[in-house]
Amino acid sequence: MIEVSLDPNTGIATLTWDVAGLPVNVKNRAAIAAFVDAVDAVINDDNVKGVIVASAKKDFISGGDLDELRAARTPDAALELVKAIGACLRRLETCAKPVVAAINGSAIGGGLEVALACHHRIAADNEATRIGLPEVTLGLMPGAGGTQRLARLIGIAQAAPLMLEGKLLKVRDAAALGIIDEVVPAADLLGAAKAWLLAAPNATQPWDRDGYAVPGNDPQSMKGRLFFMGAWPKLRRKTSPDDPAAGAILQALHHGVERGIDAGLKIEARLFAGVASSNVARNKINTLFYGVNSARRLKARPAGIPSFKPKRVGVIGAGLMGGGIAHTAARAGLEVVLIDATQERADAGLAAIRKNLAKALERGHVTEKDMVSILARIESAADFGRLAGVDAIIEAVVEREDVKADVTRRAMAAAPGVLFASNTSTLPITTLANLSPVPGNFVGMHFFAPVDRMPLLEIVRGEPTSDAAVAKALDLCKILGKTPIVVRDGRGFYTSRVVGAYTREALLLLAEGVPPQVVDNVAINAGMPIGPLAMADQTSLDLLLDIIGSLAGESKKQEPFVRALHVLDRLSSHLERRGRKVNAGIYDYAPNGDKTAWAGLAKEFPATSSLPGETDIENRLLHIQALESIRAMDEGIFEDPADADVASVLGWSFPSSRGGVLSHVDGVGTAEFVRQCDELAVRYGDRFRPPQSLREMAEKGLRFCDRTGNAHG
Ligand code: NAI
Repeated sequence: MIEVSLDPNTGIATLTWDVAGLPVNVKNRAAIAAFVDAVDAVINDDNVKGVIVASAKKDFISGGDLDELRAARTPDAALELVKAIGACLRRLETCAKPVVAAINGSAIGGGLEVALACHHRIAADNEATRIGLPEVTLGLMPGAGGTQRLARLIGIAQAAPLMLEGKLLKVRDAAALGIIDEVVPAADLLGAAKAWLLAAPNATQPWDRDGYAVPGNDPQSMKGRLFFMGAWPKLRRKTSPDDPAAGAILQALHHGVERGIDAGLKIEARLFAGVASSNVARNKINTLFYGVNSARRLKARPAGIPSFKPKRVGVIGAGLMGGGIAHTAARAGLEVVLIDATQERADAGLAAIRKNLAKALERGHVTEKDMVSILARIESAADFGRLAGVDAIIEAVVEREDVKADVTRRAMAAAPGVLFASNTSTLPITTLANLSPVPGNFVGMHFFAPVDRMPLLEIVRGEPTSDAAVAKALDLCKILGKTPIVVRDGRGFYTSRVVGAYTREALLLLAEGVPPQVVDNVAINAGMPIGPLAMADQTSLDLLLDIIGSLAGESKKQEPFVRALHVLDRLSSHLERRGRKVNAGIYDYAPNGDKTAWAGLAKEFPATSSLPGETDIENRLLHIQALESIRAMDEGIFEDPADADVASVLGWSFPSSRGGVLSHVDGVGTAEFVRQCDELAVRYGDRFRPPQSLREMAEKGLRFCDRTGNAHG
């Protein structure tokens, strides 16, 4: 696991990480125990004059074992996971022998913490290497000295954003910040490490030297105090109140760095223990790591179908979505034929992509060379004949069945038999597939806007859709870098159906006279990035009238649809308040984008005698999403509860601190959730009546995480 070799001529010992049976050096219990033994052996061996920490894998060392972490339910259990490595790293950096990290590939999380405890860090010049402490993205924080050493090495103001945002740096950027001391060609890495050890026999850490001061500003100085005075409110604005990780990192910096390193390390460990044993961390690990990874590994791919390797794809419709899809495909290395009804419109679509890329170039997200080659891969055309020879086609034309049917037929004539995907947001895939000359090749690929940034892709299987088409759509999804869920056809598929129910509930609250800021703030306090009514204005109220109307189907004339549709109809058709696009919707918008609730709402939707309290509002907004998801699962739209969790977090930013819509039920407790919904049903309507399947789960004491393969409670 940790190979120790000693060069008798120089006295240099090399500790090489090679965790057995895994592609990366995960810092699990066994690896840590082996490393601690190896460190103690070299410290105690008088023949050893210097130490190299290296890796035999492609990457350096990764973070802790997430399975071990999510099983740690108490602060003591979490502390147990970092105690030994924390103490060992302190012994290593104070052992009076020089220690160097030879960073051959990525050093992330716990891996970087090991490197930070070395006196010197040399990295191989490798484009693919990433350096950082991204624990916060999984609801965690560094627990083996990362916060304390990084801040003492490069200063609090530089270290804080890296840890609070979980940024990963390229080697040269990490070197520019002072995290890496030297960058050398990969072949010279060990040689450079040896040379440094021989040249620095008396190395110590800066923070163990007399007269050490934190670079930049000490937390106690005026500048330091000003930094924290600004950092706390900023953090509160940026992070969900129920997510403790970022706050704990800032606390470790605030209170840890003003003390000596040993006290700072203790403070960090205590904060880590609380954060790592929290439900939030477990929820995030379950959904953002296990759920997302198994989706990305294409767990839903039908077996036995050869891998699909498209080179050239057609995209029909060069509007907002088609342009985004073409851009994403070209960025992923595919050749793209971008078709619209006229050459002018197709060219306009390509021009919009060019503009988008120019912005990305300005922000440093793409290089000029990449931009040129991405654009060179896209051909704009009006002639469907240009589709000859493509391997797959995705249509994103206007949302009309007749137009979609027409382009499907014309595309299939030009490229017979290839995969044909529709990005429709509301039309049934089964109906569209049956209008295609090759129904088996027809599948739904429902992207989210903006396509180049939104990670989720909802793949919809219509009745005639073949297994091969689903497999191909999944392979294409992987190439496009998206995370898929595969669902069956049904009104609103999965995602639009649940977002529809959520928006509808917010509109009902508005109809009851609850001020929109109250509804939106409750949602934001619950962890949503934006309130549902502000979101409704962004979508535009006339479009929502169509979407919610189409989701209602035959139930249009029944509650709860009647009241929600009335609100939309009243605002958009009668009062011309169509939303953000006309600066007038549920809110009024000032030219600078500031919004205030429209003053006419109280007259239009007078308050009912008793307004619901905040807990009721929160439960109504969140529980309705879970109930709609359970109904969709009961109808066979999807099977694995993890799909709902992943889709809700990636698709519409359901708070990842709760793990997603169905983990939310687990968090409340199944029986308690049923009880709360029964109560809501009495007060607000039958839409809150829990489905029978949920009552049965509650009776048996089952949770959704018991029903999924990749997450356990
Ligand atoms: P859009 O109006 O921006 O683009 C539609 C494009 O289709 C236009 O460029 C239009 O010229 C072109 N078009 C119309 N008839 C055509 C024909 N016969 N042949 C070739 N091109 C034709 O609309 P958007 O927003 O891009 O939506 C496209 C599709 O994506 C719709 O089905 C929509 O429901 C769906 N969708 C939209 C989302 C959104 O957030 N806007 C999200 C997910 C799906």
